[in-house]
Amino acid sequence: MKALSISGSPRKNGNTARILSEIEQGLKDQGYKTKHITLPESNIKYCQGEKSCSKTGICIHDDDVAMIVDEIYSSQLVVIASPSYWGDVTAQMKTFIDRCIPYCGNNSKKTIKTNETKGAAVAVRAGKSKAENENLVKTIEHFLGHLEIPLVSSFTVEGIDAAEDLEKRPHVLKEAYSFGKSLAANCS
Ligand SMILES: Cc1cc2nc3c(=O)[nH]c(=O)nc-3n(C[C@H](O)[C@H](O)[C@H](O)COP(=O)(O)O)c2cc1C
Repeated sequence: MKALSISGSPRKNGNTARILSEIEQGLKDQGYKTKHITLPESNIKYCQGEKSCSKTGICIHDDDVAMIVDEIYSSQLVVIASPSYWGDVTAQMKTFIDRCIPYCGNNSKKTIKTNETKGAAVAVRAGKSKAENENLVKTIEHFLGHLEIPLVSSFTVEGIDAAEDLEKRPHVLKEAYSFGKSLAANCS
């Protein structure tokens, strides 16, 4: 079983990365092979909105998006994670989502969908209320829905801004690890 985690955070060793690493460990301990992709380190150009991909199933850009989508569909589980930037996913995550029009529903001609992939959402924010993170989860669920991937679970963390905030709340890391383990059970 293979799990892919995709992070939209530009902070390489930031909170999202730390939380994802615990989730990945939980999955590994349940026998999953894990792979991690950081979108801000990937080559992803902006969608130009000219929509030839709706007919051809092929984007005008040749960059990392097709490879990432192939990785998604060859995994049993994809974990999509982002910190909140202005109440939604980061620009890097949104840029990736925009580029997935060729893989929406009937548009998809290039990628072989296995119908085996399930999805999970992770949202991290500085503010205290969970409602804003639910907004990120909705964005991720909407995206996965168009890729015909069901969202099986989500994990949100509030009140985390600087790296020290997370170290002061080790129970959050333990919950992230348990979430990873529970995802393995959800997807088997
Ligand atoms: C440009 C920017 C916008 C942000 N907007 C919000 C926001 O709307 N709500 C919030 O709770 N936190 C916001 N934050 C704080 C981040 O969500 C928070 O620091 C998070 O822990 C960063 O995760 P990371 O270390 O994985 O990047 C923002 C941070 C930045 C840099």
